[in-house]
Amino acid sequence: MCGIVGYIGEKQVYPFLIKGLKRLEYRGYDSAGVALLNGDIKLYKCKGKVADLEKITKDQDTKGSIGIGHTRWATHGLPNDVNAHPHFSDSKSIVMIHNGIIENYTALRKTLESRGYTFRSETDSEVLLNLIEDVQKKEKLPLNEAVRIALSEVVGAYAIVLFSKENPDQLIAAKKGSPLVIGISKDEYFLASDATPIVEYTREVVYLEDLEIATISRKEGLKIVTIKNQEITPYIHALELQIEALEKGGYEHFMLKEIYEQPRSIKDSMRGRISEDGSRVALGGIKDYEDKILAARRIIIIACGTSWHAGLVAEYLFEDFARIPVEVEYASEFRYRNPVIYEDDVIIAISQSGETADTLAAIELAKSQGATVIGVCNVVGSSIARATHAGSYTHAGPEIGVASTKAFTAQVTVLTLMALSLGRKKGTLPDQRFNRLVDDLKKIPSKIEKVLKQNDKIERLSKLFFDATNFLYLGRGYSFPVALEGALKLKEISYIHAEGYPAAEMKHGPIALIDEQMPVVVIAPRATHYEKVVSNIQEIKARKGVVISIVTQGDKVVSEIADHCIEVPDTDEALMPLISSVPLQLLSYHIALLRECNVDQPRNLAKSVTVE
Ligand code: F6R
Repeated sequence: MCGIVGYIGEKQVYPFLIKGLKRLEYRGYDSAGVALLNGDIKLYKCKGKVADLEKITKDQDTKGSIGIGHTRWATHGLPNDVNAHPHFSDSKSIVMIHNGIIENYTALRKTLESRGYTFRSETDSEVLLNLIEDVQKKEKLPLNEAVRIALSEVVGAYAIVLFSKENPDQLIAAKKGSPLVIGISKDEYFLASDATPIVEYTREVVYLEDLEIATISRKEGLKIVTIKNQEITPYIHALELQIEALEKGGYEHFMLKEIYEQPRSIKDSMRGRISEDGSRVALGGIKDYEDKILAARRIIIIACGTSWHAGLVAEYLFEDFARIPVEVEYASEFRYRNPVIYEDDVIIAISQSGETADTLAAIELAKSQGATVIGVCNVVGSSIARATHAGSYTHAGPEIGVASTKAFTAQVTVLTLMALSLGRKKGTLPDQRFNRLVDDLKKIPSKIEKVLKQNDKIERLSKLFFDATNFLYLGRGYSFPVALEGALKLKEISYIHAEGYPAAEMKHGPIALIDEQMPVVVIAPRATHYEKVVSNIQEIKARKGVVISIVTQGDKVVSEIADHCIEVPDTDEALMPLISSVPLQLLSYHIALLRECNVDQPRNLAKSVTVE
């Protein structure tokens, strides 16, 4: 949450800050600001988007070759001009941006107030900044040393970048829990929450680690010390990100582009992982851990949101193919529940961003109790990718729309490959089924192409339902997580209340909701529980519910009773979530558009949830 950027070099900084903030707006978009140094510190900030910030700076002096910028997702204090970042220190000599949460800020604020400090905002960030100023003044220390000492008094998460009027040639940054990347080019340095603002200027980056403090000066370049003051030699990574992946490429929204990218992104998730003749599946990143996974007492999957839904699909896959017991946990519950974790448990952490605070904390907990942790992440080099013992990237490419689409299908693809490989190795997946599944998996991208061709039909359907106030999504077996994911997509971008349920649970409560006003989306492909789901549809119709059904191509039974059907190509039921989730993404997209919602940046949400 919150996107931060910084620059020190020879060029004018303002264009980089604005462009960088726009790239990071997916992380938060309730207010934005920049601070630049040009003799004096110029600070501009406002409630709203980066475009609003551009409006207020239009006729202002934005010169300077050192500067910082911020796009906010509010944690402490309302989204307004005052709480927007950057913040000035009490004396106005230091200016800072912050992503994260300072948990002990109330106590720190009281102490600072008793020492005469006044606060302009309600933010925890301003407290941290004044603490830094206080340490600097009290101990008469250089700014970077004051940052190091102040941070040792802080409980919580932070990525900060700051500079001061007194040290016009220096930018200081530090991180714990929240990400920070430093881009290095000739005579210039770029800082950002992720590599997307940096990639078009340099491909050489350093990922700052937790409890590291970087001092970047024009004369001496980049120096990193730990919070214990040990010097660190920066490790320079080469970025592989493509700039085109960060643009809309002719689509109206990133979400639509990402939905349409799925045939390609699924191919990328499979690339190099299935042998040419289809007889072997291997994920390089976990090869050395497969025996450990097979010997595991159980697999515990930890994730949040859509990634948790991918985890639920994986529960079916791992149990079905490899006969390993699986539990799927919300990371936020797991981390605080005092869970029983054995050394022979294997944890699989799933995360698109690789930065989700709860998932990271759950990983640390599992590691501290001796469990092996495998990551399934999209963002290369992310905190979760680095915190896990081993893992596989999903290779979906940058996902910028806040609602996850291609990342979900890429996660399910990688988890399917894992389950196939493990089932084969263990001997629980007969050759015939393995071969058929691999064959079907390779055909998924072209089958999704066919679903995408029904976009116009789905758009027409959305016109019938865009003003509904509630939706119910039902599915059984492999289609149950798809129902949950379909409901989440709809509620997060269209603000229609939607619930996902296992179809058979309907009669234990949700059936009471059904009347002619209630659209019910039933995911009913030809699969193990098909007849039972057909009975559920009959039950809904008997109560005058309106049924929209996702069915297998050529289905004759459901199409007779449902009000509307979207046909999808047939595949093995274990792979059906990869296909059946796509029309639901399109349905949500079109409904949200008709309701004039901002599909790429839905209210109150942020793409990367780096606070708990
Ligand atoms: C929903 C969505 C969120 C994320 C969740 C976890 O469309 O995007 O529910 O899935 O915040 O994020 P990651 O996968 O980055 O850990």
